[in-house]
Amino acid sequence: MSWLRSLLERKSGPARTGPLDVRHARQVAALHHQGGFARLWEPGECAALLADRAVVTEGVFIGADREPCGFVMSRLAADEAEVLSIVVAGGRRRSGLGQTLLRAHIAQLAARGTARLFLEVEEGNAPAIALYRRLGFETVGRREGYYPKPDGGRAAALVMRRDLG
Ligand SMILES: CC(C)(COP(=O)(O)OP(=O)(O)OC[C@H]1O[C@@H](n2cnc3c(N)ncnc32)[C@H](O)[C@@H]1OP(=O)(O)O)[C@@H](O)C(=O)NCCC(=O)NCCS
Repeated sequence: MSWLRSLLERKSGPARTGPLDVRHARQVAALHHQGGFARLWEPGECAALLADRAVVTEGVFIGADREPCGFVMSRLAADEAEVLSIVVAGGRRRSGLGQTLLRAHIAQLAARGTARLFLEVEEGNAPAIALYRRLGFETVGRREGYYPKPDGGRAAALVMRRDLG
């Protein structure tokens, strides 16, 4: 939504992206907790991921803020990568930050020689699926009963792929 994006930029300055490191572990865990996921990442787990050389992470920051208001993380394996998680803070959604974050991440992965980026997304997660489609991901598979739901049921995952070459 461009009007929300310009309002945000007028109030706080443009969004910028940058790498995250272990010092951001608590902030990444707090953002992950806002993602609505059944299994939450704790700060220790986030620190381990942020320290892992096979994991590429970007944060998105508003203006001069030092705390990220969103992050994306992918694990590299040979010339492929898989998105582990992407979250934008609850109060900051639908203002273009997810798109900014994922575009920067894709550029970073492509610069490292990654040829294909995969991800799994719950098939009912319309905002995330819309973001991925907009950035050129295509559905290449479906995993039945992949995600546990808070009500004890299970939801299917879509497997999506984007070629980076
Ligand atoms: C998915 C998520 C990261 C998107 O971040 P965001 O900053 O809100 O996304 P953007 O504002 O950049 O939106 C980019 C595009 O995605 C689509 N989109 C985003 N949110 C949407 C929504 N609620 N409904 C429909 N489309 C949506 C739109 O096409 C949008 O472009 P537009 O605003 O110009 O129409 C965010 O909703 C989030 O953190 N969700 C919780 C965690 C999660 O589900 N992560 C994905 C796990 S697989």
